[in-house]
Order: sequence, then structure tokens, then C-alpha cells
Amino acid sequence: MATILSAVAWPYANGPRHIGHVSGFGVPSDVFSRYLRMAGYDVLMVSGTDEHGTPILVQAEREGVSPRELADRYNRVIVEDLQGLGLSYDLFTRTTTRNHHAVAQELFKTVHRNGYLVPKTTMGAISPSTGRTLPDRYIEGICPICGYDGARGDQCDNCGNQLDAIDLRNPRSRINGETPVFVETEHFFLDLPALADALGSWLQTRTGWRPNVLKFALNLLDDVKPRAMTRDIDWGIPVPLPGWDDNPNKRLYVWFDAVIGYLSASIEWARRSGDPDAWRKWWCDPEAQSYYFMGKDNITFHAQIWPAELLAYNASPGEYGVLNLPTEVVSSEFLTMEGRKFSSSRSVVIYVRDVLERYGPDALRYFISVAGPETQDTDFTWAEFVRRNNDELVSTWGNLVNRTASMIAKNFGAIPQASNLTAADHEVLAVSKKAFDAVGDHLRHQRLKLAIGEAMRNAAEANQYLSEQAPWKEPDQERKATILHVAAQLVSDSNRLLAPFLPHSAQRVHEALGGTGQFLPQPEIVDAADLDGGPSYPIITGDYSAQPRWASESVVPGTPIKPPTPIFAKLAPEVVDEELARLG
Ligand code: MF3
Ligand code: ZN
Repeated sequence: MATILSAVAWPYANGPRHIGHVSGFGVPSDVFSRYLRMAGYDVLMVSGTDEHGTPILVQAEREGVSPRELADRYNRVIVEDLQGLGLSYDLFTRTTTRNHHAVAQELFKTVHRNGYLVPKTTMGAISPSTGRTLPDRYIEGICPICGYDGARGDQCDNCGNQLDAIDLRNPRSRINGETPVFVETEHFFLDLPALADALGSWLQTRTGWRPNVLKFALNLLDDVKPRAMTRDIDWGIPVPLPGWDDNPNKRLYVWFDAVIGYLSASIEWARRSGDPDAWRKWWCDPEAQSYYFMGKDNITFHAQIWPAELLAYNASPGEYGVLNLPTEVVSSEFLTMEGRKFSSSRSVVIYVRDVLERYGPDALRYFISVAGPETQDTDFTWAEFVRRNNDELVSTWGNLVNRTASMIAKNFGAIPQASNLTAADHEVLAVSKKAFDAVGDHLRHQRLKLAIGEAMRNAAEANQYLSEQAPWKEPDQERKATILHVAAQLVSDSNRLLAPFLPHSAQRVHEALGGTGQFLPQPEIVDAADLDGGPSYPIITGDYSAQPRWASESVVPGTPIKPPTPIFAKLAPEVVDEELARLG
């Protein structure tokens, strides 16, 4: 079976994550990975918190703590939230580990040796009052491209273009409002023009990408310029070259090292597994595939910068050998909230933690899977969240489980034996059995909406079957037993089809059908020692080897069934107003 790397975007450790983040990278990658594991693929799913660069510095300054304290704080918060959501990482680590620093430096050194990192003198900003360098992101001004006042020195949030701070009109410091002074400074630039042909050829061979993503990636090639991969900043990974490595004010650009996290996390996972070379199976075997999950603001870095780093490394590889480029960059679009853009500063935000506490992980996972921003920008509304929860999750799926288990408990106390299946019985069972192919094919291609639609249709058909067969008024006990046997089989099938989306309730449905033991492996948080002597930190990991199969598995007559407790909770309509009031 194929070997697949599930590479999940690394959230910045500069605050708690909101539902926009997890609808972009989190839930889609987890549903994909969970399906693959059930279907027998060899999956490695890695990520971690992104802890360098100005996003961390800016927030540390705001909270009045050191960048290290800030990263420690939010690394832990994010680990708890993602594990609470049930994201089944083989390893969720962080970029401040010694392992990651070493891997990032190895890539930098090799790419530099191969001639693709070239030094250039540029103009950098300093604060006239302190004399300290002012990173691009600390500078604000008018976008030279679209005229938006409030563009940052590194990028304009209005038109999405990458910028150079020196090109902003009316530039000012976000720290104290003063006008920055630009002075000469030296940096290493990734020679993207020299890699453009190779990038283009690679992109031309890509199939199955979401059209918007491929189009965006190809467009990037129209205008490639060398891009700075070092920064005047004192927080990050030292530049591993003589004369640079002891300079406390020069660091690798956060994006240069963040994307390397996929590789370093794979290596860390292998080292922790006891087989330090185990990562090579996902990175060095050309048959292995890799899928990268993210929101669309990350496409540039995954469809251009990361492949460029890999091509430049592979030109004459270092100790890791020739490394695989991404099979696919799976980007989702943006999620807005009640018509507005998410913004923690303006408190237009819904934190993952709050949703988990109030509604549990599967209600959110369901909503994101069925109504997330998979291929177009999508608005989240509480009214729709409540409606989908009540009308679909509770009414269709919860109700099917509930009525089936309670009728079996009441009438037989155990899954009954079937006798003489009718044409209708055969048909509904055959349809359900076949659903594994259709849902599986959608999931293999990251089409979550179509996949969950099919799976829910299977549950709806089971409901329909029950209504038509009406076992509650069936006088013939043998026929009643047969209908309820078939119903139990349909619930069991639907539970498997829905398990990648709803892994927590899958366990409860399994138990409602008389199952014991763990149905699906779950991720856990472990306090791990740094492998190379740094401070310890919490990781998400798990043993996902024991999987239920992705296929219909016959229910066993005689399995005791107790009266069930409802698996999903109906939400009161007042929830909508309460939540809207919280948003202010
Ligand atoms: N931290 C970045 C963000 O939140 C994403 C980094 S993905 C990585 O936008 F792979 F580069 F780490
Ligand atoms: Zn702009």
C-alpha cells in the first residue's frame, strides 16, 4: 500500500487558534489521514508550532514577555486545542527544538554550497530613536500596489502581495509611530530565477490539484525575483556560515525554516520511534506521496519556496540525500465569520477552545467537513452551525443510531439473527457496502464535502429503510429481527464511513452497537524530552496501528445491546443569540 506523508501547516505560536485556522489545515488533514490509515495506507502525519520570526516578536512585545515565554505559552495552548479536536498527528512538535535548528541549518548550508543562496546588499529599516533594526512586519504604510493604508512591510493584507518595506509610501513604525530610516544591510537571497524553469517543469507534472491552487502557483512564476532568506532580527535560527553564526542580529527568515519543519518533524518522529532512519521511507522513496494542507495565504510558501528549497538542496544533496517534492499542495480558501474577516485584535474571532468546551469536537469537525472553505471562501454563521448540528448530525445520524439501538435493546437485548432477506434488505445492504468505494475515492482526493455528503446519504437511506419497514409495528418476530439486524449493519457501516470525520462519536456508536475496547486510536499529549538536550516540551503523538478496516464488517448476532444514551446533543436556538452577543 502506498506510503503517504500528511504534511500539515504549522500554526504560529502567537495566540490561541481560531476556527478559521483549523478549517484550513486541521480538520481536512486529519480526515484525510484517518481515512488513509483505515484503508491501509502507511501514513506519517507531522506538524508543530511555528515559533520564530516577527509574528512571535510582535506578540511577545504586546504581552510584555520574552519571545521564548510567549512561544512556550502558546505552544502548549495550541497542542491542547489540536489534541482536543482529535487531530491524529504522528508528531506535533515545534520549531524551537535543537533537532529542527540542526535540520534547518543543514538545508541552508547545502543550498548555499550549491550556489542558490546568494548574498546581496539591500536597504533595511532601523528605528532612529533606538538604533535597532526594525523588521518589515513592524513597519506599516500605504501599499504601493493597491493604495491600502495599513499594509505591512512584508505583505499587504488587502491585495495579498508580498512587499518590501522600503516600497511602502508614508512608512511608520508600528511600535512607536516614528518614520524608519533605511540603511544598507547584507542578506542571503534564494535564487528563485535560477530555479524557475525547474519549478515550472515540476508544476507542469502536477495532476489533481484544486484548480485555483495550481493556477495561483503557476502565476507566481510569471514574476520571480530572488527572495531574502535571512533577516535582521535577534529571534530565530542562527545563519550557519562563518562570520554570520555568531552575529546575534542575523537570523534565518521564519518561512525558510518553517517549511523545513515537515522534514525535521519526520526526522524527530523517526528518532523517537527508535529507528532514526524511518523517515526516509516518506522522503527518499520516489514512490512515496506527500500532501500539504493549509489555508490559501500559505500557497506561495508551499508551491514555490519549499519546492525551490528542495530543488536547490537536491542539486547536490547533503546528508539527507535527494528529497521528494510535494505531490500536492492542498489549500483551502478563507473562512469569514458572520460576514467579517477573522481578527483577534478586533475580537471578530471564535476560538477552537471555546467551541470545544461548549459543543465538543465532533460538532465542529462535522461543520468544517460539510460546510468548510474547501474550494471557495465561506462564511461561518452560528445559525448555520446550529442548523447543521440539529438537522443533520442529530436528526439524521444520531437519530438512526438511537432508534436502532433502542429498538434492538427493547425487543431482543442483543443484535438479532437475520433470516430470509427481502429484495429491499439486499438492496440497502449492497448500497451501504458500496458506499466505501465512493466515500473512499472522494477522501483519497481530499473532497471532504462530497465524501461526507455520501456518508450522510448512507445514514439517511438507512433511516428511510427503517421508516419503510416499520419494525415497531411488525407483528412477525422473525421479520422484526431481520429488519433490526439489517439496521444494525447499516449503523455499523455508516459509523465506519463517518469515523474519519467524527472520531469521538464513532467510539460511542461502536459502544451503542455493543462493541467494546477502543474503536479508533486517538492522539495524546506527551511531555517529551528534547532529543538533544534542550528543554522538554509537550508533543502530540499516538499509536495508530490498530485501525478498523475501511469496509463493511458483519455485525455479530448475539452481541448484547443496552438502551443507548443520545450521542449528539441538540442545540437550543438561543445558542445563536448567545454566541452573537459574545462577538459584540
Ligand atoms: N505559521 C504559518 C501561518 O500560520 C504557517 C507555516 S506553515 C509551514 O501562516 F509549513 F511553513 F510551517
Ligand atoms: Zn495592497
